[in-house]
Amino acid sequence: MSGLLVFGLETSCDETAAAVIEAPGTIRGHVILSQDVHEVYGGVVPELAARAHLRRVDEVVTETLNRAGCSLEDIDAFGVTAGPGLIGALLVGTSWAKAVAYGLGRPLVAVHHMEAHLFAPSLEDPDAQPPFVALLVSGGHTLLLHVQEWGRYRLLGETRDDAAGEAFDKVAKLLGLSYPGGPAIQEIAEEGSRTRHRLPRPLLKKGQELGSAEYYDFSFSGLKTAVATLVSELSNAGTLANERANVAACFQEAAIDVLASKTMRAVEVTRCRRVLLGGGVAANRRLREELTERLGADGRLFAASDRLSLDNGAMVARAALFRLERDEVAPLDASANAKLPFPGLIRE
Ligand code: KG4
Ligand code: ZN
Repeated sequence: MSGLLVFGLETSCDETAAAVIEAPGTIRGHVILSQDVHEVYGGVVPELAARAHLRRVDEVVTETLNRAGCSLEDIDAFGVTAGPGLIGALLVGTSWAKAVAYGLGRPLVAVHHMEAHLFAPSLEDPDAQPPFVALLVSGGHTLLLHVQEWGRYRLLGETRDDAAGEAFDKVAKLLGLSYPGGPAIQEIAEEGSRTRHRLPRPLLKKGQELGSAEYYDFSFSGLKTAVATLVSELSNAGTLANERANVAACFQEAAIDVLASKTMRAVEVTRCRRVLLGGGVAANRRLREELTERLGADGRLFAASDRLSLDNGAMVARAALFRLERDEVAPLDASANAKLPFPGLIRE
């Protein structure tokens, strides 16, 4: 399928993003429009997200095609995020893609958002292929997978409550930082001490045994509550302003320690020293640094640049191409599904 032009559209949350890729993985045009309507609320408001996608989708598509130097008629296949995500937001993308693919008589591929994140690093590094242990960390999901081939994803662990990105966003809000919280915490944490406050590492204990769910599972809500308690103590003592950077740094260390430790458990058990990092939290510099260090000289870390770690259309187009090669084209009655199951996920 080399040379095929695949269009990818992503509207599952608060980025209206599109891209054209040329098979197998050259990015020809790429646009991400981040909605700013949510900043004042400190989180994504679903109805506002859907309306903003609707207002801007045509403009994002036109700009993507301009950058790619092609027209809609030149596109061979359309990929769109069908879920998981916010239903109103997803419906804008899926309705657009269905109408255009049907109108032009081109195949439409319904893409799973987290599978798309798995494909992102391969757009910049051709070596980012299975086998690998994958840590997918976004605003809605935290998944630890063992991937020996594309399309078969063995689930090792997942979060029992908040997702990793959600924890960054909630802690940022507690500290009065802007939304999205991840980049804001990363930045302020650079000025803080990583050891000044002691914070818990939920579900991470010595002596946990392989075979118990807690060996690989994550939990972030207790960490967020511990930060909330600390913030209120500091606020009562009148020292919060001076301690903000320290709290951010200690929270980030705790979250990263848990993520990196569980990933390294998977590396040891599977004897696979290739790790792929995906999802918005993959943009976190400390997380990359920590994993690189723990993997050592004989390990490999695959992580995309920020523009491809955060939600984008290129990863959707790349995942669509993979499904298209397997003839997995969406039927005409395909629709958005806020809880779309991960295709090929194997739970043991
Ligand atoms: O994958 P993504 O762009 O959207 C979802 O699929 O949810 O991930 C967004 C999440 C947000 O929670 C955001 O705070 C987090 O990724 N994030 C980060 C960083 N950049 C974005 N978290 C930690 N450090 C970052 N540098
Ligand atoms: Zn995402």
